[in-house]
Amino acid sequence: MTLHLFVLVFFLLSCGSARVVSDFEQECGGFFALGKSPTKFNDPQYKQICQNLNNQYYYATYYDTDRKIPVYSAYKFEGIKDCERKNNWYIEPQLDDNNNVPHMASEGSVPKELRGRHQALNGDYEKSGYDRGHLAPVYHAGSQDCADTTFTLTNAAPQNPSFNSGQWRVLERNIANTLSEQCLPKRYSVYIVTGVTPGTKNLNNRVNVPSHFWTAYCCLDQNNKCQKSGGFIGENKNIAPIEKNVTVLNTDLASLYKFPSFEVFDRRIVPLSANSEKIKPCIINVMCSQCWFCFLWALFLFYLPS
Ligand SMILES: *[C@@H]1O[C@H](CO)[C@@H](O)[C@H](O)[C@H]1NC(C)=O
Repeated sequence: MTLHLFVLVFFLLSCGSARVVSDFEQECGGFFALGKSPTKFNDPQYKQICQNLNNQYYYATYYDTDRKIPVYSAYKFEGIKDCERKNNWYIEPQLDDNNNVPHMASEGSVPKELRGRHQALNGDYEKSGYDRGHLAPVYHAGSQDCADTTFTLTNAAPQNPSFNSGQWRVLERNIANTLSEQCLPKRYSVYIVTGVTPGTKNLNNRVNVPSHFWTAYCCLDQNNKCQKSGGFIGENKNIAPIEKNVTVLNTDLASLYKFPSFEVFDRRIVPLSANSEKIKPCIINVMCSQCWFCFLWALFLFYLPS
């Protein structure tokens, strides 16, 4: 009883400073089409961050504290504002210490022993041969504060430098230009999600080097239909990313994340092709987060009577 009370009080107290939050759909759901985030994995190593500066939320990030890279960042695109790049990188004190400040902070402001256990630090990237590649990019930022907020290492992953300044940059520009011309004038709400998938290499024995960078967009009309949607995925090298529709991208991502299914946008708003329903291998999807687990269940139930 006392323990329950203690847990409850602790929970209420820790709710006040929401930055690394328990449910970013509730806390900053405005960055997701229909308020629904892309797929979340069930493991506690994944943290949900409402990225803020001066008490204002600018985008949301799903962060892998084991691999120390994001899974994805989600935001609304409101036009090209040509914000300045200040190039000061921040970290997220709450990832290493729950009681720390609920907003990004410079590395130096956090005691050395309290930083970096669950996130990448600038030193991991130094002399690594990789850039701190933005997921939510400066080029898509709707304000200078928003642009500054993208400079958190929780929004970055090791990216091949020529890819970062080459084909990926070209893609960021193309997407911004296309959506500015084709979606914003029609007053569609433009939602973008950009992510990376884990690779096999690590920087500094700590930070995973992603195998792929991907991005997807949805121009949502007043009736909550994606009037225009699409995606791109490219290996972490300077080759033009391949364009895919969201259905195919979802399938690719499920296999790259080794997860039974992956949905970048709510399936209610993305038109599905006839054969895409085959993707879901688990019928009782809620019960089993991994498919081998389903398989074991089936075996178990099969052998139970004998
Ligand atoms: C997505 O692309 C695939 C392969 O090009 C195609 O078979 C499928 O019909 C497309 N789906 C939609 C909804 O456009």
